[in-house]
Amino acid sequence: MCPETEELKKEIESLVKKQDAIILAHNYQRPSVQDIAHHVGDSLGLSRIAARAESEVIVFCGVRFMAETASILSPDKTVLLPAPEAGCPLADMATAGQIRAWRARHPDAMVVSYVNTTAAVKAESDICCTSANACLVVDSIGDNREILFVPDRNLGHYVGEELDRELTLWDGWCPTHLSFSPMDVAVCRREHPKATLMVHPECNPRVLQMADKVAGTSGMVRYADGCSSNEFIVGTENGMIHRLEKEYREKKFYAGTEHFICPPMKLTTLSRIRATLRDMKPEIQISKETEHKASEPLKAMCSTGT
Ligand code: 13P
Repeated sequence: MCPETEELKKEIESLVKKQDAIILAHNYQRPSVQDIAHHVGDSLGLSRIAARAESEVIVFCGVRFMAETASILSPDKTVLLPAPEAGCPLADMATAGQIRAWRARHPDAMVVSYVNTTAAVKAESDICCTSANACLVVDSIGDNREILFVPDRNLGHYVGEELDRELTLWDGWCPTHLSFSPMDVAVCRREHPKATLMVHPECNPRVLQMADKVAGTSGMVRYADGCSSNEFIVGTENGMIHRLEKEYREKKFYAGTEHFICPPMKLTTLSRIRATLRDMKPEIQISKETEHKASEPLKAMCSTGT
């Protein structure tokens, strides 16, 4: 490691103590960021850790909707987002006004929103879900209710197929996951014939059909652990490979495609984390009203026991 990085890490460590902070990093973060974090995990798991943490200050290394979720679940804590411009293109594909308008046309329906939504969209929703619990959450809703699934059409399609249930799907998608094509799968299979293919449910449905396992990022970590295979093609953002390689040193992990990069996830750097801890900003600010309304669908999700 270069002396500059070593110095940065030391400064971050001492600022963490001074500010009584905890650093959380999503599985898609740069390796250098994952390596200094106190916890690395999926979007919901990290928010739950934030809520339980004794520290008053949470530095959330991820994208905005994740830091917002942590803040909603820990309203008394200070949640800092080192890269405030790190949005999620998928989350930005549905607005609160659009959901309100849809609801007005379907007054008896339920709105299930993926955590990849803004706090304002969550505030208009009935229940949230993550890629890890989407099937369980939808299955907890009575068969006779119409469901609008927001915003990822591929995850919604996957849930509908798994449960043999018709869902109304919002037309949103993740550009990073959609970049993994059936052609990429064919190339990977040819290059790594012994590898098991794990893919994120935000991928194209044709890619999902070709996979050995469909799972969110926490599901992939568990699957790689329990699976007898020693080689895996990873069908999600490439930051995941660092997490998996660290966890299972004896196994091999290959990127599904070199284009599997979520640019907003890479905006967080060690120097930005140092600046965030030094200046105690940028802080996530959500109005009390939105925070209260958005906490309801998150609580509804947690009450399904998932
Ligand atoms: P996880 O729910 O596994 O954290 O994935 C989040 C995400 O943004 C996928 O694109």
